[in-house]
Amino acid sequence: MSLGHATTARINRRIVLAARPRGLPTPAHFRLEEGPVPEPGEGQVLLRTLHLSLDPYMRQLMDEVAPVYAASVPLGAPMPGGTVNRVVASRHPQFSAGDLVLGNAGWQDYALSDGQDLQPLGQMAQPSLALGGLGMPAFTAHVGLLDIGQPQAGDTVVVAAATGAVGSVVGQIARLKGARVVGIAGGADKCRHAVQVLGFDACLDRHDPKLAEQLAAACPEGIDVYFENVGGAVFDAVLPLLNIGARVRCAGTSPTTTRRRRRRAPTGCRC
Ligand SMILES: NC(=O)c1ccc[n+]([C@@H]2O[C@H](COP(=O)([O-])OP(=O)(O)OC[C@H]3O[C@@H](n4cnc5c(N)ncnc54)[C@H](OP(=O)(O)O)[C@@H]3O)[C@@H](O)[C@H]2O)c1
Repeated sequence: MSLGHATTARINRRIVLAARPRGLPTPAHFRLEEGPVPEPGEGQVLLRTLHLSLDPYMRQLMDEVAPVYAASVPLGAPMPGGTVNRVVASRHPQFSAGDLVLGNAGWQDYALSDGQDLQPLGQMAQPSLALGGLGMPAFTAHVGLLDIGQPQAGDTVVVAAATGAVGSVVGQIARLKGARVVGIAGGADKCRHAVQVLGFDACLDRHDPKLAEQLAAACPEGIDVYFENVGGAVFDAVLPLLNIGARVRCAGTSPTTTRRRRRRAPTGCRC
């Protein structure tokens, strides 16, 4: 998401969590607040947000009980999030006004930082890439596919949420490794994008009631690597097709799917 330029009055707009959603969040769970732009203290920098990454993990942070790797967002606090920022003012020896940095300013125009969570980006023609194709989702794809999936030339690799931030990179790396890549995505437009733009060999619509049969037809040699991003019905269609010794990288799923996967995965399948 790209944010507009700073208002001339230097108001800090921020979106805070107003209520805890059950199921899908709606605008009613958030509140837009306006306040003064904070002043950096000694050792701090003032950041202006240029780009904000909206990621699936944020939904878990809205719950009262946080996931293991992050804190729950208190009601009334701004939503956290990875950002690309311009340093507006600095009282920190390692940063100067004008620097482009990767940060965690969250859903707001301005934020203060002590510099510890900032990564200098230097000059980038397209700074938003630091949150996407050169950022956290792409690292997830890279490490998950190459370290755990270990695709070999000729393998069949299936990836869920195939046109998402993680899945789109997974499929492209798998193709570079010489694998046959079958994506699963929501809708005909996304599937066309996966094949025509991302270069996947095939892509199936997860909304199709015949997904399981179509996946079996698209993977006549079974599945050697499955990159899991969603769980549920997609996982149910994949499971019977996993070859002995298949590698399953579980980047994201539902807790119920995880329990079922452990019970039903074939012998020799690493998950
Ligand atoms: N472990 C890590 O370090 C790490 C890091 C980053 C991300 N992740 C996880 O990796 C997964 C993908 O992340 P991302 O950033 O690529 O997400 P994303 O770009 O936001 O894509 C998410 C996609 O998931 C699909 N989806 C949503 N609800 C679904 C449902 N109920 N059933 C099936 N599919 C559904 C939708 O695509 P379609 O409609 O096209 O299917 C949606 O666009 C997430 O689970 C995320 O939490 C893990």
